[in-house]
Amino acid sequence: MSSPRQATPDHPIQPLVSQRWSPYAFADRPVHDDDLRSLFEAARWAASSYNEQPWRYIFATKSNRTQFERLLSCLVEGNQIWARAAPVLALGCISLNFARNGQPNAAAQHDLGLASATLTLEATARGLAVHQMIGIVPDKARELYRIPAGFLSLTGLAIGYVADPATLPDNLRGRDLAPRTRRPLAEFVFGGEWGTASGLAEHGARTTSGGQATEREAIYRPCAHRDQCDPPGDEGPSRRRPLHGMQGHVGSQEADQTLQHQKPAEGGQNRSGP
Ligand SMILES: Cc1cc2nc3c(=O)[nH]c(=O)nc-3n(C[C@H](O)[C@H](O)[C@H](O)COP(=O)(O)O)c2cc1C
Repeated sequence: MSSPRQATPDHPIQPLVSQRWSPYAFADRPVHDDDLRSLFEAARWAASSYNEQPWRYIFATKSNRTQFERLLSCLVEGNQIWARAAPVLALGCISLNFARNGQPNAAAQHDLGLASATLTLEATARGLAVHQMIGIVPDKARELYRIPAGFLSLTGLAIGYVADPATLPDNLRGRDLAPRTRRPLAEFVFGGEWGTASGLAEHGARTTSGGQATEREAIYRPCAHRDQCDPPGDEGPSRRRPLHGMQGHVGSQEADQTLQHQKPAEGGQNRSGP
């Protein structure tokens, strides 16, 4: 039985994607540290331009009321009203410049978004929900957390278990009950010319259940030739910043210096990169 907030896709998508949504009502239920670790671990494995991993997260849980209130105070008032119910709050921050050469990283915001999206899907798989917020007060976060120059807090994240919308104040309840709407593919997938829907997008929905992907359509089919699809073994393990460099506090200078010694990712990026 699907949730009323589940997406109603025109074409089959993975259940994790259709089940994700951004609730306003959060239950008074703590999130286990093991789950939190896995959420940040998922973020850690997101793709990033030059493998710079420009994201940093600051988080607080209700197990430490002072820290929680401190993080809450970095959200705009309109977000504080509902986000205070979430058991976990986080700030998503970026490194504005490449660690390797100090040049501006034009992909930093994009990469934080990708890391947070990855974190959010991991949360969804664990029965948790994430509500991201652009409504934060970066100057306050900089002051309270002593965020150094070259780094910027960009987004807030409320993390927890979904609650009944009835627990929300009257003026917010409707937001968790309203239908979820999306632009059709034809409005953002172009072929040939800008603004011209591609043939791909013009074709009708393939789903058979009134817009919902059927269970069979949504089944993930792993590649049958996985050994042939994997990257060559001589590329070595993919390097990732450890969690202690990105959560609970902003990344240290030392961590950034370590990155300077990393070999830049190869292929495709040197045309537009620094
Ligand atoms: C980067 C980003 C910033 C957002 N900022 C806010 C915000 O400040 N306040 C808020 O209530 N929702 C915010 N949202 C949530 C969006 O409104 C929500 O994702 C959108 O309405 C689609 O709903 P869904 O996530 O349930 O599919 C933000 C979402 C993202 C990804």
